[in-house]
Amino acid sequence: MSLRVTDYYSEFKKKVKAKELKIAVVGLGYVGLPLAVEYAKKGFQVTGIDVDKDRIENIGKKVSYIIDVPTSELKAVILKGKFKADLGFEALKKSDVAIICVPTPLKRKYHPNISYIMSAVRQIKKYLHPGQLVVLESTTYPGTTEEAIMPVLESSGLKCGKDFFLAFSPERIDPGNMAYPVHKIPKVIGGITREATELAVLLYENIVSKAVPVSSARVAETVKLLENTFRIVNIGLIDEIAMMCHKMNIDIWEVIDAAKTKPFGFMPFYPGPGVGGHCIPKDPLYLFWKAKKFGFHSRFIKLASDMINHMPGYVVDRVSALLKDNGLDLSRARVLVAGVTYKKDVKDLRKSPSLDIIEILKARQVAVSYYDPLIPYLKINHINLESVDLDKESLKSFDCVIIAADHTSVDYKLILKNSRFIFDARNVYKNITDKKIYRL
Ligand SMILES: NC(=O)c1ccc[n+]([C@@H]2O[C@H](COP(=O)([O-])OP(=O)(O)OC[C@H]3O[C@@H](n4cnc5c(N)ncnc54)[C@H](O)[C@@H]3O)[C@@H](O)[C@H]2O)c1
Repeated sequence: MSLRVTDYYSEFKKKVKAKELKIAVVGLGYVGLPLAVEYAKKGFQVTGIDVDKDRIENIGKKVSYIIDVPTSELKAVILKGKFKADLGFEALKKSDVAIICVPTPLKRKYHPNISYIMSAVRQIKKYLHPGQLVVLESTTYPGTTEEAIMPVLESSGLKCGKDFFLAFSPERIDPGNMAYPVHKIPKVIGGITREATELAVLLYENIVSKAVPVSSARVAETVKLLENTFRIVNIGLIDEIAMMCHKMNIDIWEVIDAAKTKPFGFMPFYPGPGVGGHCIPKDPLYLFWKAKKFGFHSRFIKLASDMINHMPGYVVDRVSALLKDNGLDLSRARVLVAGVTYKKDVKDLRKSPSLDIIEILKARQVAVSYYDPLIPYLKINHINLESVDLDKESLKSFDCVIIAADHTSVDYKLILKNSRFIFDARNVYKNITDKKIYRL
């Protein structure tokens, strides 16, 4: 370590110990807000920065909009003066650390869109100063930190590894999973230089039980993509096995329950109406895209992605078949989609398969409605919908209810009692035998 770098290191260490480190979190969504609040709870001075006026206003009113951050916790850190949020980026001037948690969607299928990252990086560059640590948490393709971010930051005239430090540390949270809040999930960290990794380890050790340093930012970027590729491939596989079992009249849910009693070598994945959210459907495609630049075609990623995209259409086909078996024509049926978010109890519609199911039904001229206690109104392209009431009267007016998301607060007994047919894509009626229930 050069003398200057040693100085930065010991200064950083002193500030961490004294809880004097100033942290800026750029992007206050599902990833950024829990992270910012976690550091503020530990006594650090945290400023959150976001370009979304509504989110900043909510924080100003001390109201949380993210399931993993209780409003009481947000309120407590704000009242203690440990957390504030801003639309502007000026807080970066005085911050020792800048952590980037902005979205990384797709431009089109198989094409990463890192424009949100680059826009945040250009702001950080304006305020970059000696000794500052910049960490990217957004999921992205291998090489982003070194090939895309570093040159922009270095165009400030400061040198990476000498004047400032740059690392990648993937966020691995699972929104709504109360068993694994931020602090219980080990943090993988890969710096552009060894010193950057060490500083980032010092930073994250304050909020997580375990920091896992790796040899480079590129490795850390790939770790996250491996994790989510593992998930998409296994979900795609179990979706295929579910379709296969249906043909063979075997209950896939019973099969999985029995298989998971094996204490090693098996991990349960469950079939569903498709996969949504801002991770699994798109993260593996970042890896697919980058691998292609090296002349490598990933057959597994392509197949798994095709498989999960096929599921909403498969659900509609199954509903059509069950109605036909009972003398009803899908195009003349009234269908209720129960649960429209991509995931149980999480108010996030991004890439939700329920939206695809509704669109497909609409395209087939079906009278489709939806119910979701978390989403009062819905806009899909040009279609505006309002959640129906879930009561005896309204349930009786539908020919079939599709259980597409399994929110805890929904009265499934009421649905069972008052519906004509149910297509249960989430196995909410586990162990219940009733002729009107059709399982995925
Ligand atoms: N949601 C998850 O479950 C999850 C889990 C692990 C990793 N990730 C990854 O973390 C990243 C963030 O995901 P998220 O779900 O928190 O997204 P999000 O959309 O909930 O939050 C991102 C926030 O960044 C803000 N933003 C966009 N551009 C900005 C800019 N230039 N400057 C400041 N703020 C800006 C947006 O307004 C938004 O509030 C993505 O790369 C995602 O793949 C997400």
